[in-house]
Amino acid sequence: MLFAVVLFFFSGVVVDARYAANWTSLDARPLPTWYDEAKLGIFVHWGVYSVPGFGSEWFWWHWQGQQPPDPKCVSYMSKNYPPGFSYPEFAPQFHAQLFDPHQWADIFKASGAKYVVLTAKHHEGFTTWDSPFSWNWNAVNTGPHRDLVGDLADAVRNQSLHYGLYNSLYEWFHPLYLIDKKNGFKTQEFVINKLLPEMYNMVVRYKPEVIWSDGDWEAPDTYWNSTAFLAWLYNDSPVKDTVVTNDRWGAGCACKHGGYYNCKDKYTPGQLPTHKWEKCTSVDTYSWGYRRNMRLSELMDLPTIIKDLVQTVALGGNYLLNVGPTAEGTIPPVFEERLRGVGAWLQINGEAIYASKPWRDQYDNTTLPIWFTSKGSTVYAIVTVKPPKSIVQLSSPKTSSKTKVTLLGNPKPLAWSPLHPNAGLTFYCLSFQKHLDRPGL
Ligand SMILES: *[C@@H]1O[C@H](CO)[C@@H](O)[C@H](O)[C@H]1NC(C)=O
Ligand SMILES: *[C@@H]1O[C@H](CO)[C@@H](O)[C@H](O)[C@H]1NC(C)=O
Ligand SMILES: *[C@@H]1O[C@H](CO)[C@@H](O)[C@H](O)[C@H]1NC(C)=O
Ligand SMILES: *[C@@H]1O[C@H](CO)[C@@H](O)[C@H](O)[C@H]1NC(C)=O
Repeated sequence: MLFAVVLFFFSGVVVDARYAANWTSLDARPLPTWYDEAKLGIFVHWGVYSVPGFGSEWFWWHWQGQQPPDPKCVSYMSKNYPPGFSYPEFAPQFHAQLFDPHQWADIFKASGAKYVVLTAKHHEGFTTWDSPFSWNWNAVNTGPHRDLVGDLADAVRNQSLHYGLYNSLYEWFHPLYLIDKKNGFKTQEFVINKLLPEMYNMVVRYKPEVIWSDGDWEAPDTYWNSTAFLAWLYNDSPVKDTVVTNDRWGAGCACKHGGYYNCKDKYTPGQLPTHKWEKCTSVDTYSWGYRRNMRLSELMDLPTIIKDLVQTVALGGNYLLNVGPTAEGTIPPVFEERLRGVGAWLQINGEAIYASKPWRDQYDNTTLPIWFTSKGSTVYAIVTVKPPKSIVQLSSPKTSSKTKVTLLGNPKPLAWSPLHPNAGLTFYCLSFQKHLDRPGL
């Protein structure tokens, strides 16, 4: 009996298709099913940029990279820091002394998200883990003296959430990268000696189920060796069966190659795409990393977030919502409040979101903007504005005498009548109105 099982398993391995290091082959890989069912993820931008906490996570570039530099960053530094103060000198102040990964994981769980994606390395090159290829520029050698990637991995997985890592391919100021750039990307010093060994090491150590690649746009995928890396990831890595990746693997890849598509940051398609996609967006509309100069009016409020989530899911996307923790390791309570608010809405309405599929029509504007999702023979009509009257009309659904209309979170069916013979419906409800008075809608 045991012998038979072993044989069966062995023959399964032998016939498994292997992916070749070209886009035709890699793009044909089916996306692991957990990802589409998850719908909501939390994105976390945390690094040395959280220390100045000014402007955005692009602070170093805006201060000392771009020409001309951003005068706001230049004057912020000259007013508050001694002359000659360099960006790497922020790292020892990245203390994370209040970082409690279990508290973070508890907040992420309470948001209703099913996956979490942390920056393992942003464009500044600082790794939030003990990378042997980022000597003295990582969270274990300096700053927190702690494996942030590993500690959050344990806490997130303990909440039964999937764990993913963001990784920037380019590093603004890495000397080897600058050599390759000067050579028009005809050399691969940075990729061969730094980037690839680090990425292989990261995957083997932390087994991320999402690799959220970024910083690809200055060079073609052939420079980054992206197809060889992905072929290894899909064929031989410890996460080959469950990992998903995005589409930032070289100039021109976005919206075209890879796993799911992000296209641009905060991208929302006008109509239902044919390929799985994800909208990444940030509660702080000005920044992904923590900003000490953040104002309340610059944040997405809860109704806006929920509308955005609903529209994204109705159009077949996943929603990756970002928060930026502080250098002390705390999640600002205003972000926590937003995340718990999304979770409270999903507690009642999650049936219409998780594991749903886009319906034949994605929206109906007959009386109110309404987004549709579906599951089997059930259609969910999601109302994200408060109806002015207790009458709602829908034109799209085809109805019959067997049609039942219910409100999630309310066991009693609603009264309804056809709008036209066998098409459309009108329904009335006082409790519907009451329901929509709940905070969060
Ligand atoms: C991709 O690789 C496969 C397997 O090696 C090969 O059959 C196919 O021709 C390649 N496609 C392209 C476009 O190179
Ligand atoms: C989470 O941690 C607790 C305490 O260490 C442990 O008992 C539990 O099994 C863990 N749960 C998961 C899903 O890992
Ligand atoms: C990178 O790609 C080149 C050409 O495809 C290949 O020769 C080389 O072995 C690859 N290097 C790594 C580290 O994958
Ligand atoms: C629904 O109607 C509103 C108001 O006319 C319009 O702004 C919105 O774009 C419409 N929604 C869709 C998805 O077409």
